Amino acid sequence: ELTGAIELPPLWALGYQQARWSYIPDDRVREVADEFRSRSIPCDVIWVDIDYMDGFRIFTFDEETFPDPSGLNDYLHSIDIKSVWILDPGVKVDPGYFVYDEGLEGEHFLLNPDGSVFVNGSWPGDSAWPDYTVPETRAWWGSYVPDFLDNGIDGIWIDLNEPSIVFPPGIAFPDDLLHRGGGVLPADTHARYHNVYGMLMAQATHEAMKAARPDRRPFLLSRSNYIGGQRYSAMWTGDNSADWDHLYWSVTMTLNMGLSGQPFAGPDIGGFFKPPSPSLYAHWIGVGALFPFSRTHTVSFSPDQEPWSFGPRVENISRTAIERRYRLLPYLYTLFHQASIDGLPVWRPVFFADPADPKLRAEDHAFLMGDDVLVEPLLTEADPHDFALPSGIWRELTLVDEDLTETPELPVMKIRGGAIVPLGRVVQSTAEALLEPLTLLVSLDAEGNAEGVLYEDAGEGYGYQEGDYLLTTYAAAQDGDVVEVTVVSEEGDRERPDR
Ligand code: GLC
Repeated sequence: ELTGAIELPPLWALGYQQARWSYIPDDRVREVADEFRSRSIPCDVIWVDIDYMDGFRIFTFDEETFPDPSGLNDYLHSIDIKSVWILDPGVKVDPGYFVYDEGLEGEHFLLNPDGSVFVNGSWPGDSAWPDYTVPETRAWWGSYVPDFLDNGIDGIWIDLNEPSIVFPPGIAFPDDLLHRGGGVLPADTHARYHNVYGMLMAQATHEAMKAARPDRRPFLLSRSNYIGGQRYSAMWTGDNSADWDHLYWSVTMTLNMGLSGQPFAGPDIGGFFKPPSPSLYAHWIGVGALFPFSRTHTVSFSPDQEPWSFGPRVENISRTAIERRYRLLPYLYTLFHQASIDGLPVWRPVFFADPADPKLRAEDHAFLMGDDVLVEPLLTEADPHDFALPSGIWRELTLVDEDLTETPELPVMKIRGGAIVPLGRVVQSTAEALLEPLTLLVSLDAEGNAEGVLYEDAGEGYGYQEGDYLLTTYAAAQDGDVVEVTVVSEEGDRERPDR
């Protein structure tokens, strides 16, 4: 309650997402998008990394490689794919470049102790850094966002906002830099504001997105954030490596983020640095397709890292893994709705199933999605992990056409006895009707009862805040050979579809 909960994200942001540094030129973005569709691998979003810019100048587009970002986005939208484009905080020191000139003019940059503008090396070379502690600076930053979005950009990715220096590597921002502050934030040194810099950048960007497009829910991803920053942005776990340890840590980090109030999180699937082996990618996408935020991403000098880049077997495993996610989306969306109300994590440590059972306290391979779905991923190359699992009835769950004896890379998933889990159908993106038909997966408890919740709304916009949603609690009861499922309570004014 002190730090706030997430805002309900647009449904498309819960779909599978594909990135690399960078898909370039624009035709390559189209090609990757087409490839998902021709291979029937569900995907909602393609990401556009720094090389789209003109010399890494933020809020610009390279005339040769990305001459027509609107045209590119029109094309992506025509095949139901959204795009998220990156912005860095560092502004190229370049007299004549509008963002630099206007930033200087408006006194928006972070200062050295002697009052001169602090400059360091970021992607474009010498760069000045917005002082997001100043309300006018947040508004100035946000003033570039509407035109940027007008290119048909759906979401924004903000990076390097720890804040972090690229050149030379390994150097921190000096503690004695001066932030001007304003509003509730006093003027003070960087020592005070270092850790909230990313959150303030996220706040500025989020507020500008919302003001620019009041009918759309902002989707923003940030590398740095802070307690409370979940109100503005999802997070990813930064530049990991294609190592088995990092696969394991991606699970523990995401669980810890959820416990810290940030449920919308996930890693670079497959690892950012180093190319993953086919086996590592298969294991990573197996569990990765279930992360609250699910995106494959890799570094600039790496080989291809799309689901089809590791041969037909891994492609099939990836398709099955991602199809599992899409079937689960109604349940996942319901969990995001819950997180937006009470801050409960989407992924939960298994001890949530039974806080009184001490053996569950150290379990950090298996995890829960909500209360009702248990996942047992394989996160080690050798020596299988000995899962500590909650007691009670947990039935193995088959979501799509899958045979885990053939594909042990895919995690075993179980449904709790006593739960009803709402499932959709496998679609290629969330633009298709997920709930036609709706499937209620009923797993009875020892007494023959079960209960579950489905949240549904338009998937975009704010109509839900005016009552355009349905929150339905279903109950199942067994009577002899018959299980009867009924609606036991409902909330919201949205018309109940005829199912
Ligand atoms: C940083 C980001 C990474 C991105 C790269 C280029 O390393 O963490 O995700 O691809 O910068 O923008």
